[in-house]
Amino acid sequence: MPADIVIGAQWGDEGKAKVIDYLASKTDIVVRYSGGANAGHTVEVGNQKIVFHLVPSGMMYENTISVLGGGMVIDPDALFDEIKDLESKGIKVRDRLRIADNAHVLLPYHKEMDSIQEESLGDDKIGTTKRGIGFCYTDKVSRWGIRMRDLISEGFYTKRLPLVLEQKNKVLENIHKKNPISLQEMTDYLRKVAENVRPMLINAPYYLNMELDSGKNILLEGAQGTMLDVDFGTYPYVTSSNSTTGGAIAGTGISFQHLQEVVGLAKAYITRVGEGPFPTELEPEAAEILRKAGNEYGATTGRPRRTGWYDVEVIKHAARVNGLTSLAMTKLDVLDTFDTIKIGVGYELNGKRISYFPSGEVENIKVLYEEMPGWKEKTAHVRNRNDLPKNARKYVETVEKFTGLPVKWIGVGPKREDMILGK
Ligand code: GDP
Ligand code: IMO
Ligand code: MG
Repeated sequence: MPADIVIGAQWGDEGKAKVIDYLASKTDIVVRYSGGANAGHTVEVGNQKIVFHLVPSGMMYENTISVLGGGMVIDPDALFDEIKDLESKGIKVRDRLRIADNAHVLLPYHKEMDSIQEESLGDDKIGTTKRGIGFCYTDKVSRWGIRMRDLISEGFYTKRLPLVLEQKNKVLENIHKKNPISLQEMTDYLRKVAENVRPMLINAPYYLNMELDSGKNILLEGAQGTMLDVDFGTYPYVTSSNSTTGGAIAGTGISFQHLQEVVGLAKAYITRVGEGPFPTELEPEAAEILRKAGNEYGATTGRPRRTGWYDVEVIKHAARVNGLTSLAMTKLDVLDTFDTIKIGVGYELNGKRISYFPSGEVENIKVLYEEMPGWKEKTAHVRNRNDLPKNARKYVETVEKFTGLPVKWIGVGPKREDMILGK
């Protein structure tokens, strides 16, 4: 059976969760493969609005199994708070959640280091979510990380943990003049975490490939977006993991041969939260109008999102690095009131036309725009693409023409049913 992927094609917050929730109705297993509690994935069903951070967004269906993949960095405090919150809202999580035993454990010192670094950088900060993401991945790559599987191995507490803490304390005490972490306190904390996660741990490559072979279908839930990918985004203003298709393979252990549909999620415009270059960003006054229209405030940190026009080069970049097979366009309804709508259709860099997203000098890009008349009509009630106002249909077709991809889902509101299906 196939595994499909939903990936952000912009700078995150594209409305991935809404499409995942939609597709999850026909899915057996939903797997998050990268990132951690930096994600904020909103699903609105009936009167309920749920923001998922670590738990996959397919949880609204009773029979769906959810997996936290090995490419993730998991903050146990954030996870248990989220499970508690979801269960208080009547969503049963514990029996349906599995955790890859090779996923990394994100600890309080990762969050502390993230905050210390951001504050010390002043105007040069990345604008992280301060969830400790970069520091946990740093430990993973420099081989000072702690994995979920470690927590249930006796030898870990007597041998590896003291060594890791000795290393951490050198940095905390000598460089940051902070109090050292107590081995006893950390041992007690991690033993408690171990008891909580033990029933949920799985060997993910074995479990997921076996389930696919036995006929189950899987949906891979992207977090962040292509332009925040540590390799393909606007480095260093990125997150610390691969949010792209490569990350989905490395972060789950699912064989690439299983991959089928790769859906690129993009708003009908574009937003970014945090620092870094943004070629189609609007000037402050116009940015505020679009921010208000789209209610563009972060689902995790509440920060105002920066806003801009749809950028075709960004989507083509995402199509290249992810192997996108289709697009979903969310928040078309947000443009309902605009007289004219612009769309970035090409770039010039240092006076020359370029047809790729450059890995540097992004701030020097000059965007070439096409301007289209708005439709000035409400679209929230539309369920069939042919019933969209003529100019809205034209807008979607223009995106298809420039990107070369079919737009298979169109979002016209935040709720599950506010969606137009099919090309
Ligand atoms: P994600 O991180 O990609 O899952 O997206 P977020 O949840 O951070 O942000 C998307 C926001 O847009 C959420 O508040 C959604 O409820 C909302 N949303 C998603 N699709 C649509 C849509 O088609 N129209 C409108 N108006 N809102 C939408
Ligand atoms: P979802 O999954 C939007 C941004 C942060 C910052 C940069 C690095 O909801 O789309 P980090 O805390 O990861 O070290 O921050 O990445 N960022 C996101 N922006 N949506 C997200 O997730 C994001 N996750 C991280 O704002 O610019
Ligand atoms: Mg989000």
